[in-house]
Amino acid sequence: MNEKQLIAQRSFLTRPVEQVSGQVRVPGDKSISHRALMLGALAEGMTQIQGFLPGEDCLATMAALRNMGVNLEQSGTTSVQIEGAGLHGLQAPVAPLDMGNSGTAMRLFAGLLSAQAFASVITGDESLLQRPMERVAMPLREMGAAIETNAGRPPLIITGGRSLCGIEYAMPVASAQVKSALLLAGLYATGPTTVIEPAVTRDHTERMLAQFGCPTQRADGSVSLMPGGHLTATRIEVPGDLSSAAFFLLAGSIAKRGELVLEHVGLNSSRTGFLKIINKMGANIKVIDNAPGKVTGERIGTIIVGPARLRGIDVPMELVPLAIDEMPLVFIAAALAEGQTVISGAAELRHKESDRIRVMAAGLRALGVDIEERPDGAVINGGSLSGGEIDSAGDHRVAMAFAVAGISAQDPIRIIDTANVATSFPGFADSAVRIGMNLEVTDG
Ligand code: S3P
Repeated sequence: MNEKQLIAQRSFLTRPVEQVSGQVRVPGDKSISHRALMLGALAEGMTQIQGFLPGEDCLATMAALRNMGVNLEQSGTTSVQIEGAGLHGLQAPVAPLDMGNSGTAMRLFAGLLSAQAFASVITGDESLLQRPMERVAMPLREMGAAIETNAGRPPLIITGGRSLCGIEYAMPVASAQVKSALLLAGLYATGPTTVIEPAVTRDHTERMLAQFGCPTQRADGSVSLMPGGHLTATRIEVPGDLSSAAFFLLAGSIAKRGELVLEHVGLNSSRTGFLKIINKMGANIKVIDNAPGKVTGERIGTIIVGPARLRGIDVPMELVPLAIDEMPLVFIAAALAEGQTVISGAAELRHKESDRIRVMAAGLRALGVDIEERPDGAVINGGSLSGGEIDSAGDHRVAMAFAVAGISAQDPIRIIDTANVATSFPGFADSAVRIGMNLEVTDG
């Protein structure tokens, strides 16, 4: 087996522990890091990013921008300086742009590249090549873009050289990625671009556009961008990713003893669904809301978590889009809670890095949990977890969720296919070990 195959097979072996404790500073927010790179590249002047997430997903965005002639310099791993090319300064890439595992990069670039004078092709890894892209291609075509999918999936083939018009688009599914793609295309459109959301989705694009001098207008359930704006370079401070902090929120809740302090975490209200869900389940969590980030326009705070007896709940459907990336953790919390948990309105989970309903249900069943899979969620009867072997299906968040579950299982859990953890949380295993988790990373 060569090294690449070995890494692809990387596994976690996790054994139960009673206590987790300490302070953790999770890496930068993935959504904000992608957007900071893209807007910095389109701005006039030099943008400075601090707290950037050096995960593989954001590095794919960085590489794509470099392949279009943007000058980006990374110092250390978390500081990036971008010499903005301006709205019309990107150059035609000579080869397909590879987004790796990143749906965010692919969908946001779809919007951005639809408006360029040149042609481009956007591709990705095996998992990304299975994900739905018509959700973004369709409205972009309505704006005048020439964009083709492969029977609805990547690669995306964009002709370029089209002038775009603004549209009013009511999204059939709540998606921050689709909204952001249309707003990025809208930067180049004649006429206003309005996106109507069926439910609130993360608003980092809107906040950051304002910071770059191009504010959007929000009305009830919709966001609009006026034509003719341009972006001016700025300084972005990326908060810690609440989606990464969430693994430790669950770890601190299910351990029998100890306290975890998570510092400098983004608390944007369009991202805090998991906090609300786990609090409803009886978690013992305190949030100290520091002053709103002066630089980023994002709320930042400290979260303290201790052990709790979790109980099953009916997860309120309106919280699902606000916890969309944390839902694998809700499955684990439910499996360890007293009583029944019902998850519904979560069909979008089937279109993430894996089919997260299917993969979580299979994993929990392998650990002896009574779980009924439904098209849009699951019914989980809480109890205890045995040990066993889990296939993460190459999904970073599934792998980390089961690693945390190992704290409270009766026997060791082996999780296979975990290399993709590096897409969103490089250093996860080190942080886990530092707080007292018994987690071993093995090749193969
Ligand atoms: C993201 C939006 C969400 C989320 C993804 C990141 C973003 O996807 O699941 O991890 O950065 O805009 P959808 O908008 O497709 O739900």
